[in-house]
Amino acid sequence: MTTTLNKKRDLLSLSDLDAVEIQLLFKRAAVLKQSLKEGHATRTLEGRTLGMLFEKPSTRTRVSFEVGMFQLGGHALFLSSKEIQLGRGETISDSARVLSRYLDALMIRTFAHENAVTLAQFATVPVINGLSDHFHPCQILADLFTYQEKRGMLEGRKVAFVGDGNNMAHSWILASIKVGCHLTLACPVNYDPDPRVLSLAQQQQARTGSGSVALTRNPREAVAGADLVITDTWISMGQEQERQRRLRAFHGFQVDQKLMREAKKDALFMHCLPAHREEEVTSEVLDGEHSVVWDEAENRLHVQKAILEWLILGRL
Ligand code: CP
Ligand code: NVA
Repeated sequence: MTTTLNKKRDLLSLSDLDAVEIQLLFKRAAVLKQSLKEGHATRTLEGRTLGMLFEKPSTRTRVSFEVGMFQLGGHALFLSSKEIQLGRGETISDSARVLSRYLDALMIRTFAHENAVTLAQFATVPVINGLSDHFHPCQILADLFTYQEKRGMLEGRKVAFVGDGNNMAHSWILASIKVGCHLTLACPVNYDPDPRVLSLAQQQQARTGSGSVALTRNPREAVAGADLVITDTWISMGQEQERQRRLRAFHGFQVDQKLMREAKKDALFMHCLPAHREEEVTSEVLDGEHSVVWDEAENRLHVQKAILEWLILGRL
C-alpha cells in the first residue's frame, strides 16, 4: 500500500504517526535493511539535504542520520547550535524560515520540546525530533522495530520500564497505546513521568481501547512476567548537576540479573544507550543473553532511512 501525502508532515513524537503508518514505515525499513545487507544501493534521496541542528551531544543519532542520508544518495549537514547564529540569539522561527530555503528536511536535538514544535511551525520543510527533554521518537521507532524483528508484534505483550520518567519513558507511554502493549513503569518518588504525557495517553487509550499504562514504585512488580524490560540513564543530558541526588534517589532501581529473572525466560532487554554500566544496568545484563541493545542501535539507521524517505518524498 502506498499513501501519498499532500501536506508537509513532521515527526515530533509518536502522536504524529498512526498504527498503520508505523507498520508501513517498518516494512520499508526492513526492505532498506535487507538491500543494504545484500549490497544494493537505494538512492531515493539523491540531491536532497538534511540539516541536523544539535544543542546536545550525540553519537548514534548524528552518525545514523548522516550515514542514512549518504546511503540514500543525499547529504547531511551537522549544525551545532554553538557554531551557528542560533547560539547567538537568532530566533528559532527566523532560523526555521531561512534554513527551509536551503534544505529538504531538518532534524533537531534540543532541550525544551517547545523548541522542536516552534521549528516545525515555522519551517516549510519536514522537521524530525532527534530527542528533546520530552520525547525521542526516532529511538522508540527503532525499539518497536527491533522487538518486532525478534519476537513479532508487541500487541498484548507486557513491557516494563524501570528508572526515570524521562523522554524515553514518555515515548514508551505513547507507544504502548499506539501498538497495544501493557506498560508498567517503575519510577522512584519525584521521578514519575510528566502527568501531561500520562493524561494524553489516557485520552488516546479511551479513544482506541488499545494498550495500557500503569505506575509502580516497585521494579520487581513491573518486571514480573514481562516480555520486554527497558531502562535508560538516571542522569539525562542537561541534568549533570543533579548527579549525586539522582544516584541516591534511584538506589534499588538498577536492572541486574536478579531483576531480569522476574521477567519471562525469553524476555528481551533494551536500552537506548549510552549506558552507564553498573548504574542503571549491570554489564552482566547489558552484555547478557536477554540484551538486544546493539541491534537496537543498528536499527536506528534502517528506521531513520525509512523516516527520511517518508517525510522528504511525502509518501509511505
Ligand atoms: N540513543 C541515542 O539517541 O544516542 P545518542 O545520544 O548517541 O544519539
Ligand atoms: N534520556 C537520555 C536519552 C539519551 C539518548 C537523555 O535525554 O540524555
